[in-house]
Amino acid sequence: MCGIVGYVGLARKTKSVLYEGLKRLEYRGYDSAGICYIDGNKNTVIKSEGKLENLNAKLNKIEINSPIGIGHTRWATHGKPSELNAHPHSTGPISVVHNGIVENFYELKNELEQKGAKFYSDTDTEVISQLIFYFINDGKSFEDSVIATFDKIQGSYAVAVLNADEPDKIIATRRFSPLVIAKNDDELFLASDIPAILPYSNEIIFLEDNDFAVLKKNSIEFYDNKKNKVERKSKKINWDPVMIEKAGYRHYMLKEIHEQPRAVFDTIRGRFSDDFETVIFNDFDENLIKDVSRISITACGTSYHASLIGKYMLESISRINTQVELASEFKYREPVLDSNSLVIAVSQSGETADTSEALLEAKKSGVKTLGITNVELSKISRESDFVINTKAGPEIGVASTKAFTTQVVVFYMLSIYLGLVRKVIDKKAAKKLIKDAVAVSKIIQKSLKLDDEIKELSKDFYSYKNFIYLGRGINYPIALEGALKLKEISYIHAEGYAAGEMKHGPIALIDENMPVVFIAPDDEIYYKKLLANFEEIKARGGRIIFITSSSGSLEILGEGDRKIQIPKCSNLLSPLITAIPVQFLAYHIANRLGTDIDQPRNLAKVVTVE
Ligand code: F6R
Repeated sequence: MCGIVGYVGLARKTKSVLYEGLKRLEYRGYDSAGICYIDGNKNTVIKSEGKLENLNAKLNKIEINSPIGIGHTRWATHGKPSELNAHPHSTGPISVVHNGIVENFYELKNELEQKGAKFYSDTDTEVISQLIFYFINDGKSFEDSVIATFDKIQGSYAVAVLNADEPDKIIATRRFSPLVIAKNDDELFLASDIPAILPYSNEIIFLEDNDFAVLKKNSIEFYDNKKNKVERKSKKINWDPVMIEKAGYRHYMLKEIHEQPRAVFDTIRGRFSDDFETVIFNDFDENLIKDVSRISITACGTSYHASLIGKYMLESISRINTQVELASEFKYREPVLDSNSLVIAVSQSGETADTSEALLEAKKSGVKTLGITNVELSKISRESDFVINTKAGPEIGVASTKAFTTQVVVFYMLSIYLGLVRKVIDKKAAKKLIKDAVAVSKIIQKSLKLDDEIKELSKDFYSYKNFIYLGRGINYPIALEGALKLKEISYIHAEGYAAGEMKHGPIALIDENMPVVFIAPDDEIYYKKLLANFEEIKARGGRIIFITSSSGSLEILGEGDRKIQIPKCSNLLSPLITAIPVQFLAYHIANRLGTDIDQPRNLAKVVTVE
């Protein structure tokens, strides 16, 4: 989510390489940015909160004649978005930019503080500059200090380090976060993502985990973490920059579908106590929340569907009366809200006009409000009393995918939290639910294997003009979401229904021209009922795609019907798994139809009008 750039050379202006590189990383989303360069023997840092333009305004006022620098765009994890917490972080002559998370940050910070270190920011990154500086003061070389630092650090990182006392080099290292170098004869470029530096050279070197690279104007050396020299060869990259931004995927939507295990994992990371018995929401004031007896959720589109799943979770786990309402309706309906109501506004962008207006309307009644958004500084985050951020990372495809699954997982955690606060579940029950959540990323990962199978299946279905999606219980919203996904990117008419409702009208639509997609995870209550609905459709000639985790044989499936086998998962988390095949189905059908998947006609990613 954060972005790194670096430059060493005389051929170009360091300021413009850093700024242009950061600009090319803009699509990732960020909340602050900064650069550091060395002038003489001094490391100068310039940072700004908010848009890159704010940083640019500062850069425009100064002349930079340095041949070396590093830059960063930040997406806050530890410490709120602010100029102070923006990177680079400096301790004495050492300046650092960092992507990733230092998992043992508290222990290391405590250790350093006991040795006299003074921290100025709330970030995990500052321990890196502090540690390197500590080792240098202890008599180690710059290179050895960096290696010793990362020997102590746990977590994921891509890092670039400058040292004003050795102003000719950048040291870079990585583990689990990408870092690449581009080279020309007498200059080197460093970045977290190829697009940032591709315009300068397509000779790219990919750093491997635990590599240390020492970059000088016309030399580069690589070491492993025992300081043995290693060789890293460059590769010629012939992708166009747009393709690379999509990490080789044809569309952002497909990339974002595949990012869901990571997005869900990032969203739950750090939210559970070590013993898995409690959920940690530092933003909440438990005293304000414990008397909540009624929840009203308001949202639009896909966020509304995630909220419908949230209702099942909140009522089932925390036993709170919960209503969900489309934001565009909520605002004008004069909803009855009392002082024990909590209004939750859910929005990927945090800027949707309908949702933010509904939130403002709710606030007039003096109720407590909670925003669930994917963008930290968004309007809904700013206006809500409490905020829970999803960590999906920037979502670029107009059709929402990874934001949806992260919203669902936030509702799950919130339900456990409120269940514990209200004492309707005990720690033992919470532990079981939390363990299921911890395991779910891997199950999502497994279901991504369906990509090829559904691509193949889409061949038989893309020419239909109408579709029906059916689900029950907590998977009824997935029927709605599946239909919405298909509509918005393939322009095929699709409807989602609660399967039990078919007999009350919609079944009249069924004939051989109407494919019906069943969302049918193998659960105790609904699966058998869905089989009965299945028979009703079959008897009327409908063509079926049956998405299920049941491994039982389905004799009733006819020749044109298809079964999609999904992995098993707890009932409450099953929407995270059933969402995957419906996303793939919409994507592959649209791809066959040749529509503009990432920017479908008439739609905008952020709807700022009512
Ligand atoms: C559907 C989709 C839209 C959004 C809706 C709300 O794929 O993306 O339906 O879900 O416009 O947007 P946010 O969540 O940003 O408030």
